[in-house]
Amino acid sequence: MRWYARELGYGDQVDFWGLCGLLHDVDFEQWPEEHCKKAPELLAEVSASPEMVHAICSHGYGICCDVEPEHEMEKVMFAVDELTGLIGAAARMRPSKSVMDMELSSLKKKFKDKKFAAGCSRDIIKDGAERLGWTLDEVLEKTILAMRSCEEQTAKELAELCE
Ligand SMILES: [Fe+2]
Repeated sequence: MRWYARELGYGDQVDFWGLCGLLHDVDFEQWPEEHCKKAPELLAEVSASPEMVHAICSHGYGICCDVEPEHEMEKVMFAVDELTGLIGAAARMRPSKSVMDMELSSLKKKFKDKKFAAGCSRDIIKDGAERLGWTLDEVLEKTILAMRSCEEQTAKELAELCE
């Protein structure tokens, strides 16, 4: 999300985009049945802004809530929530276990293979791309780049957590 903020000309909102991404599933672990419905209550406890609450809830539009993605950031988060799952699964299949050497063409093959990472909804990714006014290739390509930008840092943080 931080990469996308910079990429799309929201350099002054990098932290906000990143925080929304970090917190988007805030209610999921404890209240999976009330996903995106419990979030406003939890976010109120930390005095989150209405913009943040709207953004976080809208990633579940049409799945678990009726808050529609409006802001460009919300549309990005909606599109990439499922897509990052697909890219992560595709990366784990690679000898490098990495997105660094992943090409668009190989991701497109995984996208078309409905049995691969079947839990990642291709329809939502397509819908998200459409909402952004991007082609499917554009959203796939950009999200590979976004994940490349933070792979090293994420791996480091995960390793520290597991120590
Ligand atoms: Fe979610």
